[in-house]
Amino acid sequence: MNRIFSGVQPTGNLHLGNYLGAIRNWVDLQGDYDCIFCIVDLHALTLPQDRELLRAHTREVTAAYLAAGIDPEKCIIFNQSAVPGHSELAWLFACITPLGWLNRMTQFKEKAGKRRDNAGLGLYAYPVLMAADILLYKATHVPVGEDQKQHLELARDIAGAFNRQFGTDYFPLPEPQILGQAARVMSLRDGTAKMSKSDASDYSRINMTDDADTIALKIRKARTDPEPLPETVEGLQGRAEADNLVGIFAALTRTSRADVLGRFGGAMFSEFKDALAAVAVDALGPIASEMQRLVAEPGYVDGVLRRGAERAGEIAHSHLSEIHRIVGLLRP
Ligand code: TRP
Repeated sequence: MNRIFSGVQPTGNLHLGNYLGAIRNWVDLQGDYDCIFCIVDLHALTLPQDRELLRAHTREVTAAYLAAGIDPEKCIIFNQSAVPGHSELAWLFACITPLGWLNRMTQFKEKAGKRRDNAGLGLYAYPVLMAADILLYKATHVPVGEDQKQHLELARDIAGAFNRQFGTDYFPLPEPQILGQAARVMSLRDGTAKMSKSDASDYSRINMTDDADTIALKIRKARTDPEPLPETVEGLQGRAEADNLVGIFAALTRTSRADVLGRFGGAMFSEFKDALAAVAVDALGPIASEMQRLVAEPGYVDGVLRRGAERAGEIAHSHLSEIHRIVGLLRP
């Protein structure tokens, strides 16, 4: 069976963009693939974290996976640092990755900013750790957003370099499953900016933990233009906010923008927003309350993570023995 690996950083404020853009797709994949879903806490350490918040967010992301319908019996759910093989394989990969490959990574340039000499080695090596995450399990498919495409290509390059250098076909070249435009959710305050956990305004996003009243209020206050909704998808051009709200409605109801406009074309936003709020509360309300319940039960969540780390650890351990043999490390 083909194997999926994907991960989310435990940085809090999980929102509708994370749900529609990642987590909901994973729920759909779990029947067809052998799935491993990770909370990548070591990646979070590439930037400074508060230790209590890091732990709380690790549990919160786990609760979000579970509340959204990821089944810990079907999938492996665990936090990265609980399986030490990730760091170990990252080192082995670091030894075969040319600096030139890392110098091309656009996300490092963005995150490091102007003061590149002060950026941490971890931030620079981030994509090498990501390659290790995927290849430690010999995953064949990786569902990620557009922004991770370059990192995934690097993972393929590293797998190829390893195979070539050691004369083996040990690692598969993992296929990206890029989640497209349909899953891209923009800010409720600015239809040209991505919905983001770090936006100062909480009204810019619908959090996965928002209750029904909050969801409805945020949608009612969402920015729009004064025109009624267009009749066709072409009519959404140049109307970023309208496009975003119609796109959210379509994603939540698993239809297309054209279908939504077939129903609401010509309507005023007040009417459309009421319908959107109802649809959003319907889809997210139960997830939010299940998340609240799970966050209040850290013992259960930790149990899921512990069991997941055991199962992931077994695979990692057996692959690492093979990798040691291939590389020429002695296991006395
Ligand atoms: N870099 C990814 C992100 O920020 C998270 C991640 C880490 C990941 N390791 C991964 C995603 C492995 C897919 C596979 O979104």
